[in-house]
Amino acid sequence: MKIGIDKISFYSPHLYVDMNELAVARGDDPAKYTIGIGQDEMALAPITQDPVTLAANAAEQMLTADDKDAIDLVLFGTETGIDHSKSAAVYVHGLLGLPPEARAVELKQACYSGTAAIQLAKGHIALNPDKKVLVLASDIARYGLKTSGEVTQGAGAVAILMSADPKVMEIENVCTAKTDDIMDFWRPNYSDTAYVDGKYSNEKYIEFFSDVWHQYTEKTNRSLDDFEALCFHLPYTKMGLKAMQSVFADGMGDAEKRILSNYQISTTYNRRIGNVYTASLYVSLLSLLELHTSLPEGSRIGMYSYGSGAVGEFFTGILQDGYRDHLCAERHEHILKQREKVSVETYEKVFSQTVPVDGSTKVFDETTDPAPIYLSGIKEHMRQYVCRT
Ligand code: CAA
Repeated sequence: MKIGIDKISFYSPHLYVDMNELAVARGDDPAKYTIGIGQDEMALAPITQDPVTLAANAAEQMLTADDKDAIDLVLFGTETGIDHSKSAAVYVHGLLGLPPEARAVELKQACYSGTAAIQLAKGHIALNPDKKVLVLASDIARYGLKTSGEVTQGAGAVAILMSADPKVMEIENVCTAKTDDIMDFWRPNYSDTAYVDGKYSNEKYIEFFSDVWHQYTEKTNRSLDDFEALCFHLPYTKMGLKAMQSVFADGMGDAEKRILSNYQISTTYNRRIGNVYTASLYVSLLSLLELHTSLPEGSRIGMYSYGSGAVGEFFTGILQDGYRDHLCAERHEHILKQREKVSVETYEKVFSQTVPVDGSTKVFDETTDPAPIYLSGIKEHMRQYVCRT
């Protein structure tokens, strides 16, 4: 039985910062941000968007009533969850009006947990082939103003409907993984910004990719020739390129040229959104599938997932016949096109707004946020969500 991605969609908030302007404000050469790091724009979440609303907005327009009836499990991967106890999945379950019989759980392992959710969903569907699993990956990447990680922030979510006989991509069974207890990037419970050893995290990302890739090629006897494209977790778009080039051992043959060219397409959305932690790999996959005009049906796509701390995994998918008919490129283009550019000064103000933690009541101004689902305020430590539809 084939199991995999039946539908896939992303959402990103309506504000963004231009990286050229950020570079100038920080006294850096803009080329460092746009070429050295590989980011053009950075999505910015207003106070009315959090990982719950981003995920709910990504899923809301994608699901039909029949899809909702078939969902019996919601898995929410995030590393910027809003509650130490109640899962973000339960909030989304409520906002989307999913059946009460469906379970809802949050998963955490830095940027990797969305991939863990996909693998768990596969197992669940193998046992329950008539059911569907809603996988959500949603994050707001925050390092802090004027930090070296600032240029690699962002905000967004991806919603994936996993099912038997998927319309977009079968996820193949063979995959390889590696776990090692390291401190390259982490966020203690008391901090709303990440701690990072930037250079070390880059080294580990590449080392883990090399390890899981070589594990995979030994296990399967496959090589780059067997792949149409490779997609990467993209904390910034130069990162995947560095990892990919580390396995281009024999120079630039046809396979390397094809994979490099497809890599550029797979980074288009990411260049405009920034790092979205758990969702980044899947934003990149969407970029490839929606913006490539002639990616053949039946072709194999490799995917590298990396979550600091750290877990890495290499897994693969096969594009299904007619997969293009089940994508929503126009909606995604609209989400990006209708965004509003903000000045660095406004970005700093928006970035510094926080939800009160003292139990006081606060109502947010939602009139400027066009999102169908938003956070309207907080009351007695309870977030107040609104679904306009
Ligand atoms: N023109 C063109 N390129 C320029 C340039 C210019 N004027 N000036 C500098 N550059 C290039 C540099 O040569 C460098 O390129 P290479 O890496 O190819 O050598 C690149 O721009 C970045 O320059 P620096 O290394 O000097 O940048 P930095 O010290 O400011 O830090 C960073 C960059 C480490 C990515 C930092 O932004 C950071 O810590 N980010 C957060 C951590 C991160 O994203 N790690 C990735 C792996 S971990 C992970 O994937 C999990 C996750 O999501 C966090």
